[in-house]
Amino acid sequence: MTGTTSREPRPASDSALVLPRYLREPADRRTPVAYAGYKSTGVRAPLRTPVDLPHRLTEVTGPVLGEDMVTAADADLTLRQGGEAQGQRIIVYGRVLDSDGRPVPHALVEIWQANAAGRYRHVVDNWPAPLDPHFDGLGRVVTDDLGRYEFTTIKPGAYPWGNHHNAWRPAHIHFSLFGQAFTQRLVTQMYFPDDPLFGQDPIFNSMPTTARHRAVSRFDLERSQPNWALAFQWDIVLRGREQTPFETDDDGDVA
Ligand SMILES: [Fe+2]
Repeated sequence: MTGTTSREPRPASDSALVLPRYLREPADRRTPVAYAGYKSTGVRAPLRTPVDLPHRLTEVTGPVLGEDMVTAADADLTLRQGGEAQGQRIIVYGRVLDSDGRPVPHALVEIWQANAAGRYRHVVDNWPAPLDPHFDGLGRVVTDDLGRYEFTTIKPGAYPWGNHHNAWRPAHIHFSLFGQAFTQRLVTQMYFPDDPLFGQDPIFNSMPTTARHRAVSRFDLERSQPNWALAFQWDIVLRGREQTPFETDDDGDVA
């Protein structure tokens, strides 16, 4: 989504179809797939250097969601199964931007999270915290023309996990974003400011030091609603789109 060169588009071979291409994150800026303190990455991270796949039609096109697939109710996680969820009601809002700061409209934003007690409604989550019959922890919304999204939800609780002795995940909300192409998918986590659990969390600390603040939302008193909900603002920046469809030999692309 970022124009970074001035080269003219070139039709794909044997057709008039012009395929966009997307910038590849430099290897030294990618989130590491293996991190010493994050135990399970030791058994699931690839042992060999990943191979960049060429951008073909499958990679540069994306899901067609349809206008009616996402409803307004999908953005309010506090009203499910005919009742109100327990916990601190919050508004989480922000914009989806490309790397030039331009809004990304019509992007699918999906979230999942633990309930106020820190428990997921999931078959493998059975630590002794209560489930909430009126909270399933799932939400989705499509960004508007200005790239904006907004959810009403419950502030998730911290939860224990087995990474190390007395390990607890800081409160967080999982995000998945789809831009206009399958290669524009981003899966990440949003955190809350000044969480005392940051220091012992290897997932948070696996991010480069200079990038961690971008995963932490900002408390917004102005946007908070009196007698109703606190607000947290979090903008998400997707990588840019390179308009140039030229193929080069330097990165092995054969679009
Ligand atoms: Fe989680």
